[in-house]
Amino acid sequence: MRILGIETSCDETGVAIYDSDDNIILAEQLFTQASKHAQYGGVVPELASRDHIPKLLPLISMTLEEANLSPDEIDGIAYTSGPGLRGPLLTGAALARSLSIGWNKPCVGINHMEAHLLINLLEKPAPSFPFLTLLISGGHCLLIKASGIGEYEQLGQTRDDAVGEAFDKVARLLGLSYPGGPEVEKMAKEGDHLSYVLPRPMTKENHLDFSFSGLKTAVYYLVKSQKQKNQEFIQNICASFQNAVAETLINKCKRALSVHNLSRLVVGGGVAANQYLRDRLKVELKGIDLFFPKLERCTDNGAMVALTGFYRLKKSKSETSINIKPRWNLSEI
Ligand code: KG4
Ligand code: ZN
Repeated sequence: MRILGIETSCDETGVAIYDSDDNIILAEQLFTQASKHAQYGGVVPELASRDHIPKLLPLISMTLEEANLSPDEIDGIAYTSGPGLRGPLLTGAALARSLSIGWNKPCVGINHMEAHLLINLLEKPAPSFPFLTLLISGGHCLLIKASGIGEYEQLGQTRDDAVGEAFDKVARLLGLSYPGGPEVEKMAKEGDHLSYVLPRPMTKENHLDFSFSGLKTAVYYLVKSQKQKNQEFIQNICASFQNAVAETLINKCKRALSVHNLSRLVVGGGVAANQYLRDRLKVELKGIDLFFPKLERCTDNGAMVALTGFYRLKKSKSETSINIKPRWNLSEI
């Protein structure tokens, strides 16, 4: 089967075609609106919705052209139904549904977090079930036990800020641009991660939930108390913050792996692109098989939607309505 995937849950317009016979992505296109939102320090939902509209059809044509396929040769269409921003989700859903009627192809809405989780099945070697998944993005911080496709148990989640959100807010406090994660990582490379003592929230507690708002507030007070906010100060804060995030995530992953007797960890979502976190996980989780997506497939993309759409369309019927779920827990799939 060849599935066209359309991602518009936030500020990335992603389109891709997945071929299940060879388990490969035949073609993909991505347009990121980040520079448009940078001046506001975060995503403006209305601007994001409007910007998806002129981008979607040209990106779909380019993807078909790159794969050398006509719409007739596509077997189904998948779009992100949620979770995400209502307006952006609606633009992708409406277009996917319209193409499905026009081309007479089945159509399905998929869960964005399941897509971040399943994208690892494209890698070689791919993880086999069961595994623990750490999903870390701009909107989520989740620990999920995946026992099979569609069989997910949520073990923990953030009680306030998501990890990527914390990176973005810390970047903003330091005058760095949006999206903050890559900027903080860049600065942290030159800094000393032991220069400031920051909290490792909830690591002394037995549950598997997270909290990142206190860590961000600790950075806020440090920044406020510092008169000279020179380059060295910014680099040291970034390194100390990134270290605190990594140690907090590692602590909870270790606990979840041990309590649920799992030996494989799959990491996904935009923050999984962080090389420092990848390196720390490799060092600290000895004996655990670790899986990360390719760097460009950590942040939002059409490939993960196309792949997940294939698994959904194999199991369920085509949808006839435009279906969006801005809030949609993975365990409800
Ligand atoms: O998965 P994603 O593209 O969108 C959501 O579904 O939210 O994740 C975006 C988030 C942003 O908060 C961004 O700052 C963060 O991922 N991010 C990073 C890195 N690259 C992106 N955070 C830390 N280090 C990075 N290298
Ligand atoms: Zn995402």
